[in-house]
Amino acid sequence: MIDSLRNEQSILLVGHRGYKSAYPENTLLAFAKSLEMGIDVLEFDLRMTKDKVVAVIHDETVDRTTNGTGKVNEYTIAELKRLDAGGWFDHIFAGLKIPTLEELCKLLQAFPNVLLNVEIKRDVKAKETADLTIAMLAEYGYLSRCVFTSFDADIVAYIHDDYQLKTQGFPEELMSNFDPGMDGTYSKMWSVGISMKLLTAQRVQRFREMGMVIGCYCTDTEEQVNDALRCGVTLLTCNDPLPAMRIRENI
Ligand code: G3P
Ligand code: CA
Repeated sequence: MIDSLRNEQSILLVGHRGYKSAYPENTLLAFAKSLEMGIDVLEFDLRMTKDKVVAVIHDETVDRTTNGTGKVNEYTIAELKRLDAGGWFDHIFAGLKIPTLEELCKLLQAFPNVLLNVEIKRDVKAKETADLTIAMLAEYGYLSRCVFTSFDADIVAYIHDDYQLKTQGFPEELMSNFDPGMDGTYSKMWSVGISMKLLTAQRVQRFREMGMVIGCYCTDTEEQVNDALRCGVTLLTCNDPLPAMRIRENI
């Protein structure tokens, strides 16, 4: 199923942390809204709690996106669930909770055609987080829908080598000159995610020659979407998917 991303003719839209520009990121509401509006791929960030539950949250700490403080991996899931994950964004979203991966998996049952960009965040327990994540996604029968992303090259290599699953890495984390060879982590990446700040047509071409599916982040304005398309990107990660949707409709 994930192989449909290989089609160089189709432009696919990735909902970044759900629908991040309009709803509190990485909440079930943000996910539901982006799924309902028709994104092709859902992107989300995973970390493990102190009692080994995989939770959906971007930052190392809860400070920015909840009313609490401290590191996610020092919270139990029961403690995390007591935090408000919506009020920081707007008072109308007060009361939203940090979801578990399992809660997200249940929501995804209603969207069987949506692909998943599963990011394992850098953490001392990232490998264990990857193990638990893969076990749960397997239990739900979702592995064929997934590409596993990480800024941690060791995690990309681990998921590729030990699980033979599709991975996405980020070149700026691996090499500063963007002239990768087919060795090291690059050979283990099925896809590449390029920051808009670093995107050029030459770099896209170079990664394409290496056989990778090319993604970039984040394309939230018509100008950014057009720039990415001109460079040959097919996987557009959006905080706000509407500009990309409008452009895609008119192609
Ligand atoms: O896939 C692109 C994006 O998710 C990576 O950056 O910081 O939003 O997780 P970040
Ligand atoms: Ca992410």
